[in-house]
Formats: sequence, C-alpha cells, structure tokens
Amino acid sequence: MNETDLKKILRDLTWQEKVGQLIQLSGDFFSSEDALTVGPKQKLGITQEMVDLAGSVLNVAGASKTREIQEKWLQKSRHKIPLLFMADIVYGYRTVFPIPLGLGATWNPELIEQAYKVTAAESKAAGVHVTFAPMVDLVRDARWGRCLESTGEDATLNAAFARAMVTGLQHVETGKITGIASCVKHFAAYGAAEGGREYNTVDMSERRLREDYLPGYQAAVDAGSELVMTSFNTYDGTPVTGSEFLLKQILREEWGFDGVIISDYAAVQELVAHGIAADEKEATLLAMKATNDIDMKTGCYAKQLEPLVQEGKLDPGLIDEAVWRVLKLKNKLGLFEDPYRGASSERERKVLLTEENRDLAYQVAAQSMVLLENKNNTLPLAKNEQKILLVGPYGDNQNLIGLWAIHGNTSDVITIKEAISQHVSASKFSYSAGCEMPSDYHFLGEFGGSKEQLERMPLAERKQALAEALEQGKQADVIIYAMGEHTMQSGEAGSRTDITLPDVQKEFIQEMLALGKTNILVTISGRPLVLTEEANQMDAILQAWFPGTEGGRVIADILFGEINPSGRLSMSFPYTVGQLPIYYNGFQTGRPLNSETHKGRFVSKYLDSPNAPLYPFGYGLSYSNVELSSLTLDAEEMVDQLHVSVQIKNNSSRGGFETVQLYVQDIVGSVVRPTRELKKFKKVYLKAQENTAIHFTLTREDLFYYTKKMDFTVEPGDFNLFVGLNSRDTLSASFTLK
Ligand code: GLC
Repeated sequence: MNETDLKKILRDLTWQEKVGQLIQLSGDFFSSEDALTVGPKQKLGITQEMVDLAGSVLNVAGASKTREIQEKWLQKSRHKIPLLFMADIVYGYRTVFPIPLGLGATWNPELIEQAYKVTAAESKAAGVHVTFAPMVDLVRDARWGRCLESTGEDATLNAAFARAMVTGLQHVETGKITGIASCVKHFAAYGAAEGGREYNTVDMSERRLREDYLPGYQAAVDAGSELVMTSFNTYDGTPVTGSEFLLKQILREEWGFDGVIISDYAAVQELVAHGIAADEKEATLLAMKATNDIDMKTGCYAKQLEPLVQEGKLDPGLIDEAVWRVLKLKNKLGLFEDPYRGASSERERKVLLTEENRDLAYQVAAQSMVLLENKNNTLPLAKNEQKILLVGPYGDNQNLIGLWAIHGNTSDVITIKEAISQHVSASKFSYSAGCEMPSDYHFLGEFGGSKEQLERMPLAERKQALAEALEQGKQADVIIYAMGEHTMQSGEAGSRTDITLPDVQKEFIQEMLALGKTNILVTISGRPLVLTEEANQMDAILQAWFPGTEGGRVIADILFGEINPSGRLSMSFPYTVGQLPIYYNGFQTGRPLNSETHKGRFVSKYLDSPNAPLYPFGYGLSYSNVELSSLTLDAEEMVDQLHVSVQIKNNSSRGGFETVQLYVQDIVGSVVRPTRELKKFKKVYLKAQENTAIHFTLTREDLFYYTKKMDFTVEPGDFNLFVGLNSRDTLSASFTLK
C-alpha cells in the first residue's frame, strides 16, 4: 500500500482503533471459545471491544492457527488492518540450532546468518511476522540464567553476530523483507543485572554502557532491525521502558531508529512496581513519552491512553506517531496485500525441518561445541577398540534444545545414546543412567512440571541405579558422563548462586571415578558452569551447551573424531562463582598481580582463588596441533591503517578450523583502558600440515573509544597488539598511533 493511502487509514481511525494498534495480547485472548477469553480479559481489566481492536498477537505460531485468527480478525476490522503475529523464536523454529551462547562459540557470523535465514523461512511458513530476536545482551555473570540467549561477553563479537542474525532473519531483497522482522532485545544492558539476579537493578557509568553494552543493539539497528524490545531493568535509576534517555535520546535521536519499540512482557505496568509511577496512568504516560509504541500484555495503554489525552496530559500526536510506526511495519511486511504472507500448512510441510535444515543445524552445532580438556589425547575415541559405558541424566535424553526453543520438538532430537550406538557395535557399548538430573526440582516453580519430576527417585531405585552403573563400569574401558543442568535451571528466571554440576551428579561421578577408567565429561548447560573439580578429575571435557535438534549426533561425531571440534568460548568459564562477574577485558588496576611496586599480599587478587577464569574468553582445544608464529606489523607507527600478519601452521594430520584473534591494548588513555580488547578475528580451515599466513588490517576507527570527555574518538599514543588462538596465549607486538 502506498503511504498516502496508509496515512488516510491513520486519519480515519477512531481513538479506540488507534489505541488498539498499540496493544499486544497473548493467544488465549483470541480463542474461538469466548469462555476462555473471559478470565484473561478480567485479569487485564480490558473489554472485548478493546480485544477486538488489538494490533498484535504474542506467541501464536502455526499456519492453521494464525490463518484462523487473522481471517476472523479481518472480518471484524473496519479498515482491514491485519494482525501482527510476534513470537519468541530465538535460535530456531522447528529446526532448533544451539543456544546463542553456543552460536557465539562458533565465531562464525556468516554461518549463523544462514541459520537465521532458515529460522525465518520456517517461522514465516508458520505465520509468524516478527521474532523477538536477536537477544544481544552482553553478559559477564554466569549466575544469570539468560546467558543462554546471548552470544557472550565481548562487544565486538556480539555486534558481529547481531548484524548477522538481523540480516539472516529479515533477508531484505530489493527493499522488501522476504524473511520476518527482527526485534532486537533487550534494550538495554539487561545482562548487567546486579548479582546475576534476574530482573535486578542495572547501574553503571554512561561510558561503560556505551563502550561495552550498547554496541550489540546498535549493530542490530544499523543492520535494519525493524523493532527493539525494552528491557525489564533500570538504568541509572530509571526503568528502561520509561527512559527517555535510552529510548528517545539514544535509540531514536542518536541512532535514528524510527521503527517500533515494544515493551517486554508487562514492563509498562511494572513501572509501578519499580516505584517510578504511582499508578497505571502515570506508567502509561512515562512509557508513551519515552516513545515505547506497543504495550505487551497489560491493560495500561488500553485503559489509560485516552483519559490521558482527554485530561490534556498526553500529546495525542505521540499516539499518532506510535500508530504510524506500527502501520508502517505492517505495510513493510506486505500484510495489507497478503495478511498471511504465504503461510500455509502445505508450506510448513515443505520448509520445516527439511534434511537441508537439519544438516545446517548439524554444521552449526559442530562448530559450537568447545573441547575444554583433552589430556593425553584421550579424544577422539577409536571405534570398537574399547568398551564404552555412557552414563548420566543426559545420556538418553531428548531435552537438548534449551528453554527458549518453545516451538521446537524434543521428539526430533537424536539422543547421545542413539548417536553413539551408530558408531560402535552393541558388544562394545552400554548405557546406564546412573543418577538423576538434580536432586530436587524446586526450581520448576509455577511451571509445575510433571508429578514424577517433582519427586526424587525412591532411595532404593537410586541405589539400584548406582549399583548397575558401577557394575557396568567395571566391564568398561571408557566412561562417558552426559551431565549438566536441567533445562529449567537456566534461561529466563533461571538465576542461580551455585553453578557447579548438581550435587547428585557430582556424588555419582566420585563413585564412578573410583573404578579408575578413562573418564570423559560432556556438559549440557545454558551457561558457563564451574567445572573446576571436573577439570582435575576428567581426562576430557566437551562443552556441548543445549546443542539443538542435531546435538546428540554432533556430540557422538566429535567423540569419535568425525568432527574436529572448533568452538571457542565467547564467555569466560569461572574458576569459582565468587569471581563473578568475570570477563577478559577488564582494567589493569593500580596494583596488578604483576605489579612492579607491590608484591605478595597487597595486589589486586583473592586470598582463596586465582584471578584468572578456569577457561578464558576465546579458548578451546581441537584435535589438530596448530601454532602461530612470526607476528609482523607493516610499520611501527600507525596513521590510518596498520597491516598485521601472522603465520599459522597445522602440525597435524587432521584438517580443522581455527579462530585467529587480534586484541589491542591502549597503554595510556585519558581514562583507564582494558588490558586487551578484541578487534579482529578470522576463522580459517587448515588442511593437514598446512602452513599459511593470516592478514588483518587495523584502522583508526577500530581504536575509537569514549574518552574522558565522552567524545567517541581515538587518542594518539602507544599500543600493544596481541594475536592468539584465545585471549590468554598470544604473540605480542607494539605500535604507536600518530
Ligand atoms: C519474556 C522475555 C522476552 C520475551 C517476552 C515475550 O518475559 O523477557 O525475552 O520475548 O517475554 O515472550
């Protein structure tokens, strides 16, 4: 529709119709049985008339369902304004990829762009118009359950993935969104919740906000994300959903974002709980003045916008501007011409979970898993040479897709047990669960969980399970432990203070270690767990995350050497939970461990823990033996560019991927500067015995930062430059910026 006609619709809308476009309701409001909608309406205190005018739907997917609702809707809509279907499709629709913390570990934005293109195609076939993704919150605290959804702790890496995910999802061709609209979230700095406690306060300097936390969102906006979702947290004392500084000044005025801003779930109403609004009316005013366009799942906008205008407290133009942004989005998606965007059951059958999509999920999972330990080259295992016992609650478990894969089917997942059995003969392989997941399921909370989930296995059964595992372990040469956290122990509202393996699993491991076999741990988790004990006990450790639909197969293929693991951590693994928050690019402090002037006690350290993480940012092992040498800069002084090269040699008979990482240190700044910052990275495939050079070009813009005066610029001076296969073990050089 051309904008003239669209403007005409806007002009013709009644107030109620305008307000309706700014409301998002969940699927239960759109049930065909009215009786089912009475409760939800009462809970929000809104009328059926307002429900009938709502502009968008939360988390309904499936071609037949979305078509049914849309059809019914358009019959009632005076201007035939289609509904917008928005859903949480964060790392896959029916084909589920690894969780984003695993995607970050691929260091391969180009591959992830393909994954999100597939995700968009599947979602579009299912009638979804907008996905609440990518989530680009920078994370430094593994206690926070939503590390799961983030690509990690580094602004440069997060920005690269943000761009790739938005581009893959929207897949714009000749100016048209041929995929689905992306909604980057959660703006802003939600990942910095104090103590890693969910929904907790966020407070930091504007410098840190801009330097570390905003680049991911800005990259998504610059890549054309059509929507932005506000976050639950405060920043500098103001909840983001009511923050004119963040939403108007930074997002709209500085970055020029003219798309739709949608609140997170009930976040408008929560301005009252935050204590920044006395009631829903004040909350509505704050959110609308901050230019938050859509109120997700509360009655605030529905009940308060019109009274605020009538009382002269709210400029009606703000409502028109918000409605205009929503109508433009619907128009951009072509909904006025085709309210279904080609969604149909037939299309779903054609594009969902195809062999190609499964294969892509396999490739992504293969590049996401991180080999953390491999003592004496325990891995890869030879086939049918040793007797293998698989134990642990994830051994024969299809729950490998993680908390936010709400439209995926665990029934599509090949279990680790099934996948291993395809590598070895039955005479060489056995399985025994051995122990429960956690010892108690209190964390299921209101999700309830099935009755048997809520109760422990009876003691006799627990003893029996252990006895069987021990008996089978005695016959085995190698024991593979498929361990980790329950799906519901991470993700939203999954903050935890003890992020070691569950006690019941640790106790079981202790019993099995006594058998003196070769021990291999595979960890399934939505966050970095504290694996310090296991690092000492195990011969090998493979971090598998929640690896998605193809995860079980990939784990087996890595264990048996079909895949050479290439994942590199995008988030530090702490030595102990007491180190958190921990991240690689911190400041030197006045008394660094290697201080020249202070020795022993009086330096920046803990009395009871190392400062260093157990496994650092960028770290991971492979089955190859790769080394870097001959780091060369093309000049000692840099004006506009600096050309950097390094030699990389694969001293093994195995081809594989490696990620070469380039960091810089601005030695003296007008404010303190990180000891190292990732600026460039390249993931390369090296054939057996390949010896080649890797080249980088560093530009002045790469060295920009927020100076003491908060100017985003660069300051001449001396720099150190580091190149390595992780953030810790690096070659170094130095240069002077003129
Ligand atoms: C949730 C999450 C957000 C999600 C939204 C809609 O509370 O914070 O990530 O997109 O609600 O389900």
